Amino acid sequence: MAIDLTDYIATVPDYPEPGVMFRDISPLMADGEAYRYATDQLVDYARGKNVEMIVGPEARGFIVGCPVAYELGVGFAPARKEGKLPRETVKATYSLEYGTSALYLHKDAIKPGQRVLVTDDLLATGGTIAATIQLVEDLGGIVVGTAFIIELKDLHGRDKIKGHDIFSLMEY
Ligand code: PRP
Ligand code: ADE
Repeated sequence: MAIDLTDYIATVPDYPEPGVMFRDISPLMADGEAYRYATDQLVDYARGKNVEMIVGPEARGFIVGCPVAYELGVGFAPARKEGKLPRETVKATYSLEYGTSALYLHKDAIKPGQRVLVTDDLLATGGTIAATIQLVEDLGGIVVGTAFIIELKDLHGRDKIKGHDIFSLMEY
């Protein structure tokens, strides 16, 4: 039975700073049926892309990407924030709707030529996903798609990742 996933998104005005409409996926994750329903659709998208590896940015990208990787039987590589990865890394800096940051991948996280799906909970300005894509491509991976639960259309994130396929379960 179809589930309206928008029923499981909590909207919080002015969080974490004035002017931001925060779209919180935690009610969706808290409901086993809704979480599975969302995951199944992302898995269906990934199956059509012959994905060999999934990469998701800290922290909410893990929540979305790991169950998809498990279901597909492929690996998951975490793109992590400053000071979290213990071995040699590649780095990409980016700006956010609220601040700036950097993401890192272990240098051996992706093999050259590997087909990679990049996942996150939400596409806003696109800075996070563009940085994650850059990390994968720096290592020689091929980004075959990007998948999100939510896309915030007004922030035009897709303009930052032109040429990449984008799949999202809902738009605001
Ligand atoms: C949020 C969200 C995305 C990113 C989207 O992560 O989970 O990763 O912002 O914004 P963008 O498209 O403008 O880059 P955040 O950096 O808040 O970190 P978190 O997942 O650790 O909460
Ligand atoms: N990350 C960046 N912008 C966001 C928003 N509006 N809601 C939730 N997460 C976000």
